[in-house]
Amino acid sequence: MYFDIAKKKAELLKQKKDVLILGIESSCDETSIAVVKNGREVLSNVIATQIEIHTRFGGVVPEVASRNHIMAFLNVLDKSLSDANVSLSDIDAIAVTYGAGLIGALMVGVSFAKSLAYALNIPLIKVNHIRGHMCANFICYKNLTPPFIGLIVSGGHTAIVEVKDYVNYDLIGSTLDDAIGESLDKVARVIGLGYPGGPKVDKRAKEGKYSIKFVKDSLSKTFDSSFSGLKTACINYVHNLEQKGKDIPVADICASLEHEAFTPLIEKAVRACKVKGYKTLCVAGGVSANSFLRENLTKKGEENGIKVYFPEMKLCTDNGAMIASMGYFNLMNNVGLTDINLDAVSNIPL
Ligand code: KG4
Ligand code: ZN
Repeated sequence: MYFDIAKKKAELLKQKKDVLILGIESSCDETSIAVVKNGREVLSNVIATQIEIHTRFGGVVPEVASRNHIMAFLNVLDKSLSDANVSLSDIDAIAVTYGAGLIGALMVGVSFAKSLAYALNIPLIKVNHIRGHMCANFICYKNLTPPFIGLIVSGGHTAIVEVKDYVNYDLIGSTLDDAIGESLDKVARVIGLGYPGGPKVDKRAKEGKYSIKFVKDSLSKTFDSSFSGLKTACINYVHNLEQKGKDIPVADICASLEHEAFTPLIEKAVRACKVKGYKTLCVAGGVSANSFLRENLTKKGEENGIKVYFPEMKLCTDNGAMIASMGYFNLMNNVGLTDINLDAVSNIPL
């Protein structure tokens, strides 16, 4: 019964002038709800971060994350509606991250979204978190439209994709082992920077220089990447110095790590544009906040006649606005409309 009505309402929304989508995100350690109009105009984007809670454990503790999502959701919803100056009855559809991510954390968001959609009797749209990240660019650049090449760099993913349209992606290359963000976070922990590592590596790298050669890219002729060798080489380097009782050159390690992690990726992303014939490259995911990547990829793009887009900082890391945006494009393209039996899935393909 619910789904029959939802299908009819979803059809009607395609003709509606303004469509308001409530986007719900809880795949890791940010509880976020946003209201977005027509996929690109953010009316509110409330993010309750759990960083402080997980810092003392040196990383995200899944069970703790799930519990904190439960406690945060109602307040985040209230603030998101009041920031947007709307009420629940103004919302046309609910979009929710159903994967990929921490299963318990995802389940909280999915259950919350299902209850809201059922109670309001409005369509529920499932969103792939990673594709959601790409939509941060559609929010920031109102005239940006596919097709283009996408570079996805996050805590769980590293991929180069051809974004053929809003809902069709072709995978060009991906990591064969660790994701880039995961490697930065692990090295950061070993050199004592703590959690979350990526932003701290970014900061410390600015005080250092590329003076340590860790590894050579063994996949330089392909579009795939590997970060586990680099991560292990960094960690071994640190342990070696510790055993000898020497100081750890934290800033130089950060600068060298960034250089060796990002330089091959930058070359591959630009090469993908050339091989596939694109002049536009959009970067997405938490690691797109990195200053080395932003500066050097923009420069490399300019040298090769490629315009490189990065989301604004607030939209680089996990947030509900990008999920609402993806929900809108899914809805308009007949993708992701789901019944109330939706399950969270920890691993889903891109
Ligand atoms: O996209 P995201 O928020 O979560 C996932 O979907 O995985 O990405 C989180 C990742 C973490 O690994 C974090 O360390 C990294 O993004 N990150 C950064 C920076 N800001 C966040 N890495 C490098 N430099 C940054 N400035
Ligand atoms: Zn993410």
